[in-house]
Order: sequence, then C-alpha cells, then structure tokens
Amino acid sequence: MPVVETSARLRCIACGATPHSAAADFRCTACGDLLEFHLAPPPVSNPEDLKALWLGRRTSPGTALPNSLDQSGVWRFRELLPVIGAENVITLAEGNTPLYHLRRCAQAVGVDHLYAKHQGMNPTASFKDTGMTVAASAALEAGFRWVACASTGNTSASMAAYASRGNMRSLVLIPDGKISWGKLSQSLDYGALTCQLRTDFDGCVRILNELVRQKPVYLLNSVNPYRIEGQKTAAIELLEQLAWQPPDHIIVPGGNLGNSSAIGKALVELRDLNLILRLPRLSIIQAEGANPFYRCVCELGDGELESAKLEPVSADTLATAIRIGNPASWKKALRVLRATGGEVEQVTDVEIAEAKAEIGADGIGCEPASAVTLAGLKKLRARGFVKPGEFVVLILTGHLLKDPDFTIKFHRGDLFEGTSEERHAIQTKSLQRAPIVLDATLSAVVGALDAAETTP
Ligand code: F0G
Repeated sequence: MPVVETSARLRCIACGATPHSAAADFRCTACGDLLEFHLAPPPVSNPEDLKALWLGRRTSPGTALPNSLDQSGVWRFRELLPVIGAENVITLAEGNTPLYHLRRCAQAVGVDHLYAKHQGMNPTASFKDTGMTVAASAALEAGFRWVACASTGNTSASMAAYASRGNMRSLVLIPDGKISWGKLSQSLDYGALTCQLRTDFDGCVRILNELVRQKPVYLLNSVNPYRIEGQKTAAIELLEQLAWQPPDHIIVPGGNLGNSSAIGKALVELRDLNLILRLPRLSIIQAEGANPFYRCVCELGDGELESAKLEPVSADTLATAIRIGNPASWKKALRVLRATGGEVEQVTDVEIAEAKAEIGADGIGCEPASAVTLAGLKKLRARGFVKPGEFVVLILTGHLLKDPDFTIKFHRGDLFEGTSEERHAIQTKSLQRAPIVLDATLSAVVGALDAAETTP
C-alpha cells in the first residue's frame, strides 16, 4: 500500500491516534475513521500581529510576482496551514473572493444584514480551488505522478487544473449523465483522464477507494485532510473582510460535508487563537432528495455525539453538485454543528430553483447547490432561529455559469415539467425571464420594452 508522508501532525477524529503518515485512503489504520490536521501553534502568536501580517501580504511588493504565495488567498494564511515547501506549491492565486451585500434577498427574507461570500469567484469557479491548491501541492511534494478523485463535477474541474499546473496526470471518476456540461468541459480542457461511470457519486467513491489501495494514485477527495485545511481559509478571509467581527450566522450547503467541516474547523481555531472572541453559528442545508445528514441530526436531537448514526440514502436532486447519499465527513460536520450551535435544514428542488433566481436577480448568481443556503435561510428565519436584526453570511460555493442548463430550463418554465414538483413550481413563475424571439424590427423591440415596463 502506498504511504503518503505528511509534515504536520495528523490525528484520528474517532480514536485519537496520531500517525506520522496517512494510508492511501486517508483513513485511520487503527479504526478506519477520518484523519484531521492538528496544527502546532503558529510562530506569531499575538492575534493582532497575525492579522497585520496577513493583511500586509495582500499588498506586499511580492504579490506582483507570478506564483507568489502572498498573491493567494489561501497561502497568505499559511501560519494556519500544514507546511509545504514553497517550490512545491501549485497556486492559481485562488481565494481572495468577494463578499457581496444581497440587498433584495435580505428584504425578501426579512433580515437586516445579508451577505454572500462568493467562492464561485475562484479560478475554476468553485470553492474547491482553496482546498485543491494545498492537497495538490502535497501530492507534488510526495512525488506522485497521478492524482484522482470521484466527483459531482467541481472537485474534478479543480483537480484537473491544479494537476496540469503541477505537471501531474489526473484521473476523474464522475457519475455518467449526472454532472453539468460546464463542469465536464472543464476537466476535459484541463487535460484529465475523465471516466464517466455508470453509477452515482457514491458508486464512484467506492471504486476510487479500491483503486488507491492498488495503484500509486493520490486521492484528492475531501477525506484528504489537506483539502480541509485549504478550505478553512474561506472563513479566515471572511472574518478579515468583516474586520474580525464575527457574523451571527454562516450558512453552507451540505453534500459530502467537507466544506462545512473545514469552515467550522477554521472558526474554532480562530476562536482558540483569540483572533475572534465569539463563534458564529454555522448551519448546514441539504437538498431534500439528498438529506442523510439532515435526518441524522434530527434523529440525534440532544443525544450524545458518539451515539449518532448516519443512514446512507439513494440521492436525487437537480442540484447535482450535492447529489450525495453517503457523505464521508458527516462526523466532522456534526462536531462543528455542535461546537458553533448551528442548525440543519432541508429544502426542495423548487425552493432551490426559486432561491437561485432570487440570488441571480440581486445581480450575483450562483449554481443550484449554492442556492440551498438562501432557501435554508428562509426556513431558519421562519423557525425563529435567525432573527431579523442578525448578520448573516451565505457561502456561495459555485458560479452561475457552472450549470447553465438548469438556469435556462428554469427561465423557460420547463425545469420541473413531468416531475412530481411541477405543481409546486408554479410559485416560481414571477421569477422566470424566458428569452423572447422577435422579428428584427424596431417596433417589435419597442413593444417588448413597453410590455416589460408594466411587469416588476
Ligand atoms: N456546492 C457545490 C457547488 C459543490 O460542488 C459541492 C460539492 C458542495 C456544495 C458541497 O460541498 O461536499 O464539501 O459538502 N461538490 C463535490 C464535487 C462533491 O465532487 O465537486 P461538500
């Protein structure tokens, strides 16, 4: 079995074992559970010094150099990341993503302060880049020629790009017919060996886990703890953008649950280092058709974490990015939910489509899986968990252009045609903006303009 050497301290989340290296599937060799990094305290331990150091890097003269670590919104925070030799770092100046005010959505939901941290503004248009820069660099440092992942499309797009930049080959396993064209086209163009397997995401994961035990191929799914470390930086950067004043709520989509685990881990570490003085509540939203974590948390109630059980489901949702029935990082996500006092929610595909159009109408846009955050916020607001005066940040995970098919079908009004949700989809009618085909005359266009003037 190939062994992956690591430079920072790994720890098993279940039995606490601290191996010096990880097995090829990144599972604890003693108990089979997931590993995470336990980082030594950073060399600069005064919180104000750390904040100044990170901010200074953003504008340091070195940021003009290509591949500069300081140009990256991930490596800028390297004191909280595992150590990787600078010569092995593969970076595309990832991170540095904007925080947008969602004015109209705020009004519609009934909260005073609603913002979106748009991770879709990364180099390959999803949040995956922040984790991939760290994990792909670790693969390069360890001398691997091949990297691989099972994916619903975004991880594979990101992996393919970073592998090519690092002169490594990449193997993509994706469910046949269940990922968007935008994402598939990225992995092809970035040069991956792309295999569409006749199964779902969970089936792809099973095969990949067997493959990495047989072949010297480096696993880049989010069970790889380097991915989690890189994805932490979205939360660090968010807090920096908010002048280190924590929001009341952060809301994330839940699929394989790596991202929520990463953001929660960052928040706890920032609090432990006194970089923030209180924890925001981190809430996780799943699609109703892919909701094993939601069910698990509801069933557990106030029970002991150790007694929690996750029953895999057969997943189905139009938000293909989170069409996942057996999420790998559910125990990590459960821990951060408890640590921060967050909640879980589930939302239907119609609610997702509606929220996506609302985020679009605010001039921002995102892919369907990201829109679960706004749809979930509406429910958390209705339950009274989120209060009107509170400050809320949604993590938008992917760019609008990742899945144009979904968007076009929605606006044409045929997204839910022939499905069990067709009746409910009527509620989204007022948000639909189908293209209008006209004769090429001035009067036809003026007629369309005048007609539009009478609609909101
Ligand atoms: N949003 C988007 C756009 C995603 O692509 C994913 C996951 C998630 C949310 C959920 O994040 O898995 O960390 O809970 N996409 C993976 C992929 C599974 O293969 O691209 P998670």
